Amino acid sequence: MAEGKKQATWGGRFSEGPAELMLRIGESVSFDQRLAPFDVQGSKAQAAMLAHVGIITDEERDAIQAGLDAILAKVEAGEFFWDPELEDVHMNIEQALTQEVPAAAKLHTARSRNDQVATDMRLWFKYACDEVDASLAAVIASLVDLAERTQTVIIPGYTHLQRAQPVSMAHHLLAYVEMFARDRTRIAAVKEQANVCPLGSGAIAGTTLPIDREFVAKELGFVDAQGRPQVTQNSMDAVSDRDSFIQFASACASIGVHLSRLAEDFILWSSAEFGFVKLPDAFTTGSSLMPQKKNPDAFELIRGKSARLTGNLQMLLTMVKGLPLTYNRDLQEDKPPVFDSFDQTVLILDCVAACLPGVQADAKRCAAAVADPALLATDVVDYLVKKAVPFREAHHVVGALVGLSEQLETPLNELPYEEVAKIHAALGADWVDAFDLSKALAARDKPGMPGPDQVAARIAHWRQK
Ligand code: ARG
Repeated sequence: MAEGKKQATWGGRFSEGPAELMLRIGESVSFDQRLAPFDVQGSKAQAAMLAHVGIITDEERDAIQAGLDAILAKVEAGEFFWDPELEDVHMNIEQALTQEVPAAAKLHTARSRNDQVATDMRLWFKYACDEVDASLAAVIASLVDLAERTQTVIIPGYTHLQRAQPVSMAHHLLAYVEMFARDRTRIAAVKEQANVCPLGSGAIAGTTLPIDREFVAKELGFVDAQGRPQVTQNSMDAVSDRDSFIQFASACASIGVHLSRLAEDFILWSSAEFGFVKLPDAFTTGSSLMPQKKNPDAFELIRGKSARLTGNLQMLLTMVKGLPLTYNRDLQEDKPPVFDSFDQTVLILDCVAACLPGVQADAKRCAAAVADPALLATDVVDYLVKKAVPFREAHHVVGALVGLSEQLETPLNELPYEEVAKIHAALGADWVDAFDLSKALAARDKPGMPGPDQVAARIAHWRQK
């Protein structure tokens, strides 16, 4: 061991310490120190198991566990010195413990950092999934609240960003609720897959020591619904599998894509061109140059940050692809992207949940946007279909009416009836009833449709959840 250099836990066979650059490229403590609570939890369970099988005494277990608690208290108080020379969170904690508790030298028995980090991260995923889920639930609640307030605000629904058919703003917003509800199931699936204990896999091939894997799994809460311990079934898979990382990043990327689309809708809606909503001052910014500006920065940043979430997923997929079994140090780079995905996902979800209550719909501007009777052209087609005109023919007939309205520069519903009647015999004088907006919406009364009863039922459904 070189003078002044700390003894790495693996330092026995080395005559020289690592180069300064090796320390810099090798350290992960700058980002994995946030695993400290999970690392301590894992080590306490490991000590309990070692005592349970008689490898250490109960006194040694108690001393180790008390020492770990003391270290965690120091970490939480911001008083723990994280030493990059000790590489990672695992070695920092173990070395600090060894200085206080001699029995700590036995703690790493039948364990490797490979199964240790896999365990820490599975514990972390279970925690992170709960946090993301709570933030998703808050976004859903805020969308349902806004939907409740905008049930009678009718806007054009768009395809190809061209006005298509009228819908309530509530129906539009509830589309996002469906997406975020699916995201919740994705997050729940990550949590379930993470809920299996890899401890006991050792570095790659387990151990010859008489450990009790089920005991430690139970201690750490890796149990199924019946409380039965769940342990990984292949030691080589357990230390090199990064599926949960990829699945978690993927679920976050999906949330990001949904949030980005929502952000884009609000950016458009708050523009002068649309004017459907006013955003709360607290989530917009002004311009340093143009005094009149009110910019939708929060939503733009949400759209921007969602790109990071996609990038993090891409990074993980690329990193794992082509890696030979089992653990390779490349895998240390798995943590920054998942931590970033977690932090950014919770941040942007929380921003949306906090911003939506301040959104005001501009009913007048919405009504003006939806006033064009051509948005109900399809309803005229349906009128003809109900009179036994074949759909294709009816579509053609209404196309001719739209052409006529453009030619005469007259709104569709104000075309002179003599002209209308010439186009098709099935067009009775009552054809203009099709342009009654509230009747038209009320007729869309099947499941999933924007009729007010359906929308109200969906709001009630989500409220109950
Ligand atoms: N800091 C390491 C990581 O995050 C822990 C595992 C180290 N294992 C090893 N064989 N060097 O991946």
